Amino acid sequence: MSGHRIILEEHERLDILLRDLRTVSHWETDILQERKVLLQLARDLRSLQARLREHFSTEETGAYMSEISDRKPSARAELQALHNEHGMFLDLLVSLENACLEENHAGGAAAIRLRLGQLLDLLKLHERRETALIHDVFDTLI
Ligand SMILES: [Fe+2]
Ligand SMILES: [Fe+2]
Repeated sequence: MSGHRIILEEHERLDILLRDLRTVSHWETDILQERKVLLQLARDLRSLQARLREHFSTEETGAYMSEISDRKPSARAELQALHNEHGMFLDLLVSLENACLEENHAGGAAAIRLRLGQLLDLLKLHERRETALIHDVFDTLI
């Protein structure tokens, strides 16, 4: 299977994972401030990190980015921006996981919920931009 098709499939699977986490960002703060709930969220964020590390590595080392760069030189700035965002997402995930593990996080559950929602919005936008770029360059239909 060609590089860009693998990425499109991964984006579909990631979308489901992100939707699951989205439900957490809508929970009431009194549920979210329970210790066991925060510990579970920390574990979920850790597994998302592992998943994204793999995904980002596939994007960066697989044919996808270089193929787009070859086929559409005008997209190189966007590709570089997308590439640069990968490290930022991993940092944000680590920081949010640590906030969940803190016994007395300064902003409490409301701050964690807000940060989770913002992170998921940014991730969704990132994946959408990539998917749009792939469709634009390869003219594929799902
Ligand atoms: Fe990406
Ligand atoms: Fe992606």
